[in-house]
Amino acid sequence: MKHLFKKGTNSNKPTLLLLHGTGGTEHDLLPLAEIVDREANVLSVRGNILENGMPRFFRRLAEGVFDEEDLIFRTNELNEFLNESAEKYDFDRKNVVAIGYSNGANIAASILFHFAGGLKGAILHHPMVPRRGLDLPNLKGIPVFIAAGKNDPICPMKESEELQELLTIAGANVELLWEHYGHQLTRTEVEAAAKWYQEQFS
Ligand code: MLT
Repeated sequence: MKHLFKKGTNSNKPTLLLLHGTGGTEHDLLPLAEIVDREANVLSVRGNILENGMPRFFRRLAEGVFDEEDLIFRTNELNEFLNESAEKYDFDRKNVVAIGYSNGANIAASILFHFAGGLKGAILHHPMVPRRGLDLPNLKGIPVFIAAGKNDPICPMKESEELQELLTIAGANVELLWEHYGHQLTRTEVEAAAKWYQEQFS
């Protein structure tokens, strides 16, 4: 997968996996990594799908309606890419924390839904429920931060609450932050995510 890797200055820190939103690139979320943990390795990946020229991590049939078969295929592909990258760049595969926005948050949530040990933790900005009717793996103690917008036209409030509930039932420790805006990524939610991360991982 197209990506960039930046070696951190402290090898005890997690590797931050950055996953952009629809139409983004591997460069978009680099400023978030700087705010969250400037000592950590950064692995930032570009989605393999193109929708009208816009990179995404998996196909969708319509706004908010995911192509489930492709989602499963792409989730496996990303997980395999993480395994290979850990070897190639010599980082601890068991110590990866995702930071995803929108479509990138959805594939990060999908990794959590499909793989025990896929992520050490996750910061999900404006995620949706990636799949329904699935038995989630044991996510005991996995910290997850969700930032959601009360006026998000793409992701209704009850969808964020459902995601929080599904992850919590699987054992994850989920914190849900509500913003009063829509689907946009706000400075205040990034700062809240950074504060939360520092409590979890230092
Ligand atoms: C998606 O994965 O389709 C998102 O939740 C919405 C978007 O990326 O525009």
